[in-house]
Amino acid sequence: MKMDMQKRTQVKRTLVSQLSPGSPVVEAYRVLRTNLQFATMNYSSRTILVTSPGPAEGKSTIIANLASVCAADGKKCIIVDSDLRMPTQHEILKCHNKIGLTDVLLGRVEPGKALQETPVSGLRLLSSGPVPPNQAELLGSPGMADLIEFLRSAADLIFFDTPPVLPVTDASVLAAKVDGVLLVINVGDVSREAVVQAKQTLEKVNARILGIVLNKAELQGGYAYYHSYYQGGRR
Ligand SMILES: Nc1ncnc2c1ncn2[C@@H]1O[C@H](COP(=O)(O)OP(=O)(O)OP(=O)(O)O)[C@@H](O)[C@H]1O
Ligand SMILES: [Mg+2]
Repeated sequence: MKMDMQKRTQVKRTLVSQLSPGSPVVEAYRVLRTNLQFATMNYSSRTILVTSPGPAEGKSTIIANLASVCAADGKKCIIVDSDLRMPTQHEILKCHNKIGLTDVLLGRVEPGKALQETPVSGLRLLSSGPVPPNQAELLGSPGMADLIEFLRSAADLIFFDTPPVLPVTDASVLAAKVDGVLLVINVGDVSREAVVQAKQTLEKVNARILGIVLNKAELQGGYAYYHSYYQGGRR
């Protein structure tokens, strides 16, 4: 399937920790956290990859915010930016990308030394590191499996950001190595065919799909009102 990779834009993405705790967006991420808790049987699946059929469906924004609300709930979280083609987590989390995942996989840096603290308490980042030419090979290397074991000992929940699943193989390669996959779908912009194809691609590598996040859905007026009501009255 042809995908417009130019959609993979470098634009502003908001972190929920910058919003007021009563905002409907923050509440939506809390609901997602609860659903994740159920889908993982109280987080017994701890390494979670997030991908989508196509570009710019909201993967990176959702990971940063979902990990933030999990960290706020007392879970030690790590985000690994395994999108080695267009990494954005260091920008969203206001970190650097001088060293990261690729340095660890090439044996240049110890994994513990490459982890960065983020502005969100309880959330650390392993940024992508320098973008390499052989992304899928690196992600499929034995070093990646070793790194995942190390990360399991360092945090409760580890989230992997990836490129979209249909245009390139990186997400499928990694999906085979993690406990579960969340599929983010931009409801307004992605065909049913693309969703089915993404699901089949992941199932071919025996990935366990934990759930689907419907993103960019229209926020119903009623929901916003409801939320506002339960926060203590109309705005
Ligand atoms: N629920 C939403 N409502 C409105 N805009 C959103 C929503 N989720 C994400 N976006 C916006 O969509 C754009 C793409 O988001 P993001 O970079 O998180 O997607 P992505 O799937 O990681 O993209 P890529 O394929 O380039 O890695 C950003 O501008 C982001 O702010
Ligand atoms: Mg992204």
